[in-house]
Amino acid sequence: MKILVTGGLGYIGSHTVVELQSEGFEVVIIDDLSNASEKVLDGIEAITHKRPIFEKLDLKSKIGVTDFFKRHKDIGGVIHFAAYKAVGESVNNPLMYYENNINSLVYLLQEMAQLDKKNFIFSSSCTVYGQADKLPITEDAPVKPAESPYGNTKQIGEEIIRDTCRVDQDFKSIALRYFNPIGAHPSAEIGELPIGVPQNLVPYITQTAIGIREQLSVFGNDYPTPDGTCIRDYIHVVDLAKAHVVALNRLLGNKNEANFEVFNLGTGKGSSVLEAIKSFEKVSGTKLNYKIVGRREGDVTAAYAETTKANTILGWKTKSSLDDAMASAWRWEQRIRK
Ligand code: UFG
Repeated sequence: MKILVTGGLGYIGSHTVVELQSEGFEVVIIDDLSNASEKVLDGIEAITHKRPIFEKLDLKSKIGVTDFFKRHKDIGGVIHFAAYKAVGESVNNPLMYYENNINSLVYLLQEMAQLDKKNFIFSSSCTVYGQADKLPITEDAPVKPAESPYGNTKQIGEEIIRDTCRVDQDFKSIALRYFNPIGAHPSAEIGELPIGVPQNLVPYITQTAIGIREQLSVFGNDYPTPDGTCIRDYIHVVDLAKAHVVALNRLLGNKNEANFEVFNLGTGKGSSVLEAIKSFEKVSGTKLNYKIVGRREGDVTAAYAETTKANTILGWKTKSSLDDAMASAWRWEQRIRK
């Protein structure tokens, strides 16, 4: 069966393409290459011995999206990753985020309405919960006012899909709310490739350890947590990627209970920034140069997932530990700097 993966050359997208191809799906990737490289195709091919079909397309082009679906009427499912994702950038340039993340979603859903099979997996984020009142966070925790335009595009995105499913019972969708994806494929053929200075913790750690950055700043140690640093649920990107295949199979097998469902994707375990650093130091055998600085605006104190719904209903569980994920991130960093 042919599956469209938008943003399939990006970090999570490329790992998901690998898992889809390993399960026998035929993958068509759309990517505008704004935050990814065509070289990722080589990595996917090296792992799976199969090169996915790739079309460079900007999903903001309604004509382009219409034309794409005219040529690919046999698509059985869409996994939609393509989106801008930098929180800080979205605060400074909100319209760029709304234009890209919302228009592309609407155009895709409009074109999918003509397909025989309307199965849609959406990349959402735990950012929709903000600072949740209760930990671990369950899927029915209230969606809090978004902290950033980026976060708002995820909330609005879910609403757009929910409304679409409400009026068209043949439309089936699952929104996957990611916690903090980290790490790389164990082969080190694909991984995260941040452009410029990394905003996220783990690429900043690995770039510091390899000597590209001088020092990691730990944003705040005065949070109400055991060691004072923020707590997150770091999930290995391969575990996360596999969940997309499970979710897709749920829709393809008509096993979904409602035509719009939401699942958290996390490990269920919270780790502090200092614990993440310790894990990295342990698996890499290096000492990380870091210092404590002030808090970063917009950071919540703690977020980790209640995973029961994904475990029982999706039948999916994470397999990798924080150490495994850190080790894979380090292998990847070393490989790309050779
Ligand atoms: N951190 C540092 N130093 C850094 C980078 C991060 O101390 O250089 C800390 C942050 O303060 C935070 C933790 O490491 O406590 C994780 O930060 P990340 O930037 O890696 O991840 P976030 O949890 O802030 O962001 C993630 C996703 C976003 C999403 C957000 C929702 O990357 O897409 O979760 O909470 F919006």
